Amino acid sequence: MSIGIAYNKRKVNYMLELKNVSFSVDDGKGQKEIIKDLNLKIDDGKFVVVTGPNGGGKSTLAKIIAGIEKPTEGTILFDGLDITEMSITERANAGISFAFQQPVRFKGIRVLDLLRIAAKKQLTTAEACKYLSEVGLCAKDYIKREVNASLSGGELKRIEIATVLARGTKLSLFDEPEAGIDLWSFKNLISVFEHMRETVKGSIMIISHQERILNIADEIVVISAGSIAKHGPKDEILPEILGTSAAVGSCNILEKGGNK
Ligand SMILES: Nc1ncnc2c1ncn2[C@@H]1O[C@H](COP(=O)(O)OP(=O)(O)O)[C@@H](O)[C@H]1O
Ligand SMILES: [Mg+2]
Repeated sequence: MSIGIAYNKRKVNYMLELKNVSFSVDDGKGQKEIIKDLNLKIDDGKFVVVTGPNGGGKSTLAKIIAGIEKPTEGTILFDGLDITEMSITERANAGISFAFQQPVRFKGIRVLDLLRIAAKKQLTTAEACKYLSEVGLCAKDYIKREVNASLSGGELKRIEIATVLARGTKLSLFDEPEAGIDLWSFKNLISVFEHMRETVKGSIMIISHQERILNIADEIVVISAGSIAKHGPKDEILPEILGTSAAVGSCNILEKGGNK
């Protein structure tokens, strides 16, 4: 009897739970439903990869979780707390980080400042360097650099990932981190995520088409036409989607370009 109660208590809250979430916009011709009555439960400490055809609603889903878009209907629970009406900042404070598909450049701000802002404390140079090393950047070359146009897309991406690490939040969201970077950087990025998977305590949700990122997932979610087409353990879902356009379609060229 008491065991039953303990079990029930343990299962009450998921790290993230979306209940009947819908999102529609007025596209001039009427209401367009982008996310349709979506239900999703993610447990604590999972490495989740979200994939699916372009235009399926993946980025919108990430924005809804981060608070950039508000669902038209439904509820979002984070550790059991209803965050549906919370702003981006409130959600960030509650423990949700979001790395944009196109990282932002900040003129006049050094990499060290950016990491300090993310960590919300006066990180020592050594502490800041640790985060840069974790994303494969030689820290001393970057720590004093300004976050401006002199950084390449790949460098910027890795600096942004370092800020997510410095933030150390419960849930880190990445929208297609592989987008817009060269092959060399891509290869390094995979190592960054493999490393992150081992070291990070919170949950990671990455939107990606890359087979190698899908391969390190605990769980895979396939989003198509605003709904969840599949969700389950990697070993179950990956064989089902490999070779279909839903998963690796648009980025196959990259893989064949010598990155295996
Ligand atoms: N604010 C918006 N207004 C109108 N259409 C939008 C808006 N945001 C997204 N969409 C549309 O919703 C669909 C899903 O977009 P998105 O979430 O970016 O898909 P994905 O990331 O899976 O490629 C696309 O057809 C896109 O054009
Ligand atoms: Mg997208």
